[in-house]
Amino acid sequence: MNEKGERPSKVLEELARIIEEDVKRFSFRALGSMCCRPLPISKIAYLMGIEGNVGDPGVWRGIARLEKEVIRCLGGLLSNPKAVGVIVSGGTEANIVALWAARNKSKKREVIVPASCHISFYKAADLLGLKIVRAPLKGDFTVDVDYVRRSITRNTAAIIGVAGTTALGAVDPIEELSELALEKDVYLHVDAAFGGMVLPFLRELGYKVPEFDFKLEGVCSITVDPHKMGLAPIPAGGILFREHDIVESIAFRTPYLAGGGVKSFTITGTRPGGPITAVWTLMRVLGKEGYREIVRECMELTELLVEGIEQDDHLELLMRPVMNIVGVKARRLSVREFSKRMRRLGWLLSDFPTHLRIVLMPHHTEDLINELLRDLKVAATKEFVKPRVTLNV
Ligand SMILES: Cc1ncc(COP(=O)(O)O)c(C=O)c1O
Repeated sequence: MNEKGERPSKVLEELARIIEEDVKRFSFRALGSMCCRPLPISKIAYLMGIEGNVGDPGVWRGIARLEKEVIRCLGGLLSNPKAVGVIVSGGTEANIVALWAARNKSKKREVIVPASCHISFYKAADLLGLKIVRAPLKGDFTVDVDYVRRSITRNTAAIIGVAGTTALGAVDPIEELSELALEKDVYLHVDAAFGGMVLPFLRELGYKVPEFDFKLEGVCSITVDPHKMGLAPIPAGGILFREHDIVESIAFRTPYLAGGGVKSFTITGTRPGGPITAVWTLMRVLGKEGYREIVRECMELTELLVEGIEQDDHLELLMRPVMNIVGVKARRLSVREFSKRMRRLGWLLSDFPTHLRIVLMPHHTEDLINELLRDLKVAATKEFVKPRVTLNV
């Protein structure tokens, strides 16, 4: 830190330059991210809530009420407006909180996860002292429920299903997992961090969408992140529980709060108001109709990309996308080489062991996808010539 403070306008100009570059890179080249460009109005709403600390709800009563409304809306989307929940920093924290509740409620120490689950479950298991049992996937990239059934023991704290896997957007057979959870009396958590704000709208658009939410009796909790397909600024994750009983075992009272002591079931104490005011505003401004339209547009871009990939001999789809996530590989190249070439061409896609992942987000355009397709085709051919100048992304 400098001894003397600098002129504010100079510092802000420098800051603007740095951020502008990041935003450009994210908006035009980073098709490997599950985050979205927040809708402009959500940035205004975020700033309006920026002083708020919803961890002290006796002081920040208005924002605390808005959080309840947001949770009611998310619960409504997921077939349970009476769900209990909180806005957290993202899917990772949401999954940790869910497993925390499952462990304390059951007093057991193993969790069965699909091989496709997000890394956050490994973090959660590490933090909570849980043993992970990894269930393999079937040919359609969804979890093998028979394997899960065979793996349940007297020490199973929870089983996990994913509704929109990180790698491919696949949806596990949550209905079967729910039946299994009820039969064996184990906790079922559904990670719909990405899919939770896609699947309900896909269904309304006429797509065939399997049941995955609280409609299924065995589902105890669901992760759903507004900062992914909800168009909200980061950090806005969500964790919803079927009923209050489930969170009793992780509820701690903070006695010293200015607004009066309250019980909460969050990891963090101080919690930002901005994400809540932003998500609340978005839900009011967009309504279901607005979100449905956004999902429809993302699916049109997905279809455009899928068709382009299917028409090219050098490219191969991993599976037909269920949502706006596409897995692609080059038939005659390793994923590593394919990825290296795409990066040289200036694209920031996600690397997975079997493929590259492309996430079609609301801020992407048809022109951008056509450009991406052209480069995917170029990169996938043997004759690919490395551009002389490495693009500065
Ligand atoms: C299915 C799923 N769950 C959880 C997460 C973690 O979310 P976050 O990065 O917001 O912590 C992700 C992130 O991509 C995800 O795809």
